[in-house]
Parts: sequence; C-alpha cells; structure tokens
Amino acid sequence: MSRNNRLIEQLYIHLKMAIIGLLNARSERIWKLFLFLLISALVVFISISYVAVDREVWKRYQILEQGNMANSTYKKNVGAVKSEENNHQTGAHSSYKRILFWNSFADKDDFGIGIGSEVLKEMNCSINQCTFTTDKSELEAADAVFIHGFGLHRDDLPERKNREQIFVFFMYESPSLAGRSNGKLSTLDDVFNLTFTYLDHPDTDIFAPLGRAVKRITPKPVAIPTSTALESKSKLVLWIVSNCWPHSIRMEYGMELQKYVPVDVYGECGNYSCPPGLQNIQCMANLSNSYMFYLAFENSHCQDYYTEKVLNPLHLKLVPITLGGTNYTKYLPPNSFIDIREFSSVEDLAKMLLFLKNDVIQYRRYFWWRQFFEIKNIRPGGFCKLCEILHNPNYTYKSHFHIDKYWDPDKLCLNRSQQLKVYKLR
Ligand SMILES: *[C@@H]1O[C@H](CO)[C@@H](O)[C@H](O)[C@H]1NC(C)=O
Ligand SMILES: *[C@@H]1O[C@H](CO)[C@@H](O)[C@H](O)[C@H]1NC(C)=O
Ligand SMILES: *[C@@H]1O[C@H](CO)[C@@H](O)[C@H](O)[C@H]1NC(C)=O
Ligand SMILES: *[C@@H]1O[C@H](CO)[C@@H](O)[C@H](O)[C@H]1NC(C)=O
Ligand SMILES: *[C@@H]1O[C@H](CO)[C@@H](O)[C@H](O)[C@H]1NC(C)=O
Ligand SMILES: *[C@@H]1O[C@H](CO)[C@@H](O)[C@H](O)[C@H]1NC(C)=O
Ligand SMILES: *[C@@H]1O[C@H](CO)[C@@H](O)[C@H](O)[C@H]1NC(C)=O
Ligand SMILES: *[C@@H]1O[C@H](CO)[C@@H](O)[C@H](O)[C@H]1NC(C)=O
Repeated sequence: MSRNNRLIEQLYIHLKMAIIGLLNARSERIWKLFLFLLISALVVFISISYVAVDREVWKRYQILEQGNMANSTYKKNVGAVKSEENNHQTGAHSSYKRILFWNSFADKDDFGIGIGSEVLKEMNCSINQCTFTTDKSELEAADAVFIHGFGLHRDDLPERKNREQIFVFFMYESPSLAGRSNGKLSTLDDVFNLTFTYLDHPDTDIFAPLGRAVKRITPKPVAIPTSTALESKSKLVLWIVSNCWPHSIRMEYGMELQKYVPVDVYGECGNYSCPPGLQNIQCMANLSNSYMFYLAFENSHCQDYYTEKVLNPLHLKLVPITLGGTNYTKYLPPNSFIDIREFSSVEDLAKMLLFLKNDVIQYRRYFWWRQFFEIKNIRPGGFCKLCEILHNPNYTYKSHFHIDKYWDPDKLCLNRSQQLKVYKLR
C-alpha cells in the first residue's frame, strides 16, 4: 500500500537523521531521542505487519463498507439505532404508543424483546416512546398489533378495533416454509399495514436482517486466530443437521460432498451425536476447535434468507460453506465464507477444501475479516424503527395489502427441482 510505503520512507529519513546525530553527539538527550524513535519505528512496523491484508481483499472490504454506509435500505431503515442523550422528554405531553404482541415468536410471548416502556430506552433507540405488552385485554387501546405471521389463519387474529389501528406482519421464516404452500397466508390478505422482515424489498417497511457485517470503529488484529490454533484442527467438515427433508437440496449436496471428503454429520440426519444436554450452538462451539469448515446449508433456497446456520460459525473459529438463496456478499464480510455457487461441481469444492487443509496460510485468510468487522444482529433495531414509524403522522401505511404476493415462494425461492438443476445434481 502506498500509504505504508510513504510512512516507511519517512521513518527511514528520521532514523537516518537520528543516527547521524548520534554519531556526532554524545549527549544523553540524543540517545533518548534515538531510543524513542527506534521504539516508535518498531511499533509502527508491528502494526503494519499485523494488519495483514492484501490490496485486493482490502478493496473488497471497502466496497462492503460503502455498501453499508451509502444508499442502502439498511441505512434508511435501521439507522435509528444510534444513541441520543438529549432525547429524554420530560414534558407532560409525551405520548406513548402501545404495541400488543398478539402471538409468539421462537416460543417467546415478548418476541425476545421484552415488555414495558423501558425496552427501547435500554436499546438506545432515538425514538423510544413505545410500550410493549402481551396482555390481550389491552387490544382496544393498542396502537399496533404485532403478529408473527407463521402458520396463522385469519380466525387466529382479532378484529381491528379502530381505523387507526396498525397490524404488523413479522416474519423470519422463508416463503418456502411460510408462504402460500401451507395454505394459510392467503387468508391473511387485506390484514396488514406494516411489514417487518429480513427481505430487502420495496414492500418491506422495516428491513432488519438477522445479522450482518458491521465495521469495527478501530481494527482489532487479535481477533484473527493464530496459525498454530488453526493448524491444530485435525478434521475437515462439520455438519449439525436435524431436518433431513427440507425445501432445499442440502441432503443431496452433503451426501455428494461426502464422496470426496470426510463430512461428519451430527444430529438426527447423521451418525454422530452431540453430547447429551448440549444445544446445537454449544455442540458446535465444542467441536469448532477440531473442524475447519461448517456446512451452513439452509432449509430453503430463497432471496435474502439466511439464518444462524451461517452466523454461528462466523462467531466461532469455523468457516461456513453456504447453500442458500441469498447474496451472501451483501451481508457478510468478504472472505468469511465459501459459497458453493462459486464452484462448477461438488468435486471442485472438495478440491478447494483439500487445498486449504494443506495450506494454513490460505486458510487463515478466511479469518482476516475479523480485525475489521464484527457480526451484529440488526433485528432489535427494527423495533426502534417501528416506534419511529408509529410516531410519524405522515407515514403511508399499507392498505388492502396482499401478503400472499409479497411472501411468495414462486417469486422468491427455488423449489427442489430447480435447485437440483442449478447445482447439477441428478
Ligand atoms: C437511493 O435511495 C433513493 C430513495 O431512498 C432511491 O430512490 C434511489 O433509487 C436509491 N439509489 C440507489 C442507487 O440505490
Ligand atoms: C446504550 O447506551 C449505553 C450508554 O452509552 C451503553 O452502556 C449500552 O450498552 C447501550 N445499549 C445498547 C443495547 O446498545
Ligand atoms: C452413516 O454411516 C453409514 C455406514 O457407515 C453410511 O452408509 C452413511 O452414509 C452414514 N451417514 C452419514 C450421514 O454420514
Ligand atoms: C467439549 O469437548 C471436550 C473434548 O474435546 C470434552 O472433554 C468436553 O467435556 C466438552 N465440553 C462439553 C461442555 O461437553
Ligand atoms: C451481491 O451483492 C454485492 C454487494 O452488494 C453486489 O456487488 C453484487 O452485484 C451482488 N450479486 C448479485 C448476483 O446480485
Ligand atoms: C408531516 O407533514 C407536515 C406537512 O407536510 C410537516 O409539516 C411535518 O413536519 C411532517 N411531520 C413529520 C414528523 O415528518
Ligand atoms: C390497515 O389495513 C386495513 C386492511 O387493508 C385497512 O382497512 C386500514 O385502513 C389500514 N389502516 C391504515 C391506517 O392505513
Ligand atoms: C418448480 O418450479 C418450476 C418453475 O416455477 C415449476 O415448473 C415446477 O413445476 C416446480 N416443481 C415443483 C416440484 O413444484
């Protein structure tokens, strides 16, 4: 990098001057100066060599950063997460919006966010005057009814109590799983006024991906595992999978890959078992010291759909191999994962894995991103955005909205036979 070259050049000049001065003078002050410069030079040299990124990868980091900063929906929608000290309103007119959680998400009545009026304050939302409740007797007074749209029938929903009441569609399951095919979403047409999902689409009001790369304020070189730690991994591919007949062709692909390289399958669909009592994530954490790669194969192949299957290994010392319908480069740091779509055949992918097994320096490049980025869950920020919208008297809400056409597997997903064709399996 030319900036570094210039820096080294300047250091060299300073050093030369110091040495010349040293040779001419015997005073202690000059010695001190020399020592100081020598130490500074060492520090700079060490920092430069730590930030070990080649020009091409650096360029891609910058592109990702621009993508995050610029005109993206991300910025538009979840930009409100920042903290604002003087947001504290003391006036008697402070009006709270009431949000009623109608059903549950991931077995949680409070959708994992919490209830009460402090929730958004604790999250440092810039607009935080919203209170959350699970008490259905508050339906009449609710400004918004918050609904997890999965597996619901119209009869499961309350009647709208007044013309201003807002019905929010919250969805993190794929359209293959939650779309028209289950026969229920179509009964929910003409219900919702707001959408809160992971889908990057004009009809998404609150766009909040589960997790995405966020640039660190200061680089953190120690975040990269050492070569020694990586070299101690003795096994190649780990896979923990328990739904063996999903909407994706992940089983077919995994079994094909197993013809070329060892793939250790844990869970219902495999021959290995996690230690009893360990959740998948704990099991993965425990195995992450032994394995190099993790098969992050999603259960559906849909636009923008990716889950903790790819995010968890990124938090551990595993490189995810992805099968899914999202554009992973849009969300994840460059060189942090291996996308099977980049290989013309399963055998080619296997060759790449074996190559990396024998070259720890190349393998370690998949961890470089860690000094510049971290993976953040963006979903909580969506609740800030919701409160902001409810407080905006000018917001254009959806009316007579066809949720069925929005969460449409035909438009957003590849079915199994289409995937078999794309991945050239049978
Ligand atoms: C930038 O955002 C505006 C409105 O948010 C949109 O109309 C425009 O198409 C966007 N431009 C690009 C290049 O994405
Ligand atoms: C909110 O801000 C406070 C003070 O800056 C900080 O300690 C806290 O971690 C922040 N909370 C979140 C969820 O970001
Ligand atoms: C489990 O082991 C059997 C017998 O060795 C083998 O045929 C099968 O492919 C294995 N299954 C998986 C998922 O690895
Ligand atoms: C993690 O794995 C090690 C062996 O690699 C084992 O001794 C330990 O008990 C495991 N930890 C848990 C919590 O199961
Ligand atoms: C994927 O996303 C990246 C970054 O936003 C973009 O440059 C690229 O064109 C996208 N690729 C496809 C196939 O859409
Ligand atoms: C709503 O629109 C009115 C009239 O255009 C404007 O004066 C007001 O500032 C807007 N309020 C917000 C919160 O954008
Ligand atoms: C919300 O949607 C319903 C059903 O389409 C509609 O009747 C109602 O007017 C909408 N509410 C607002 C505030 O637009
Ligand atoms: C998969 O999608 C294609 C194209 O939409 C369609 O022709 C085909 O019938 C679908 N296959 C199945 C099994 O649904």
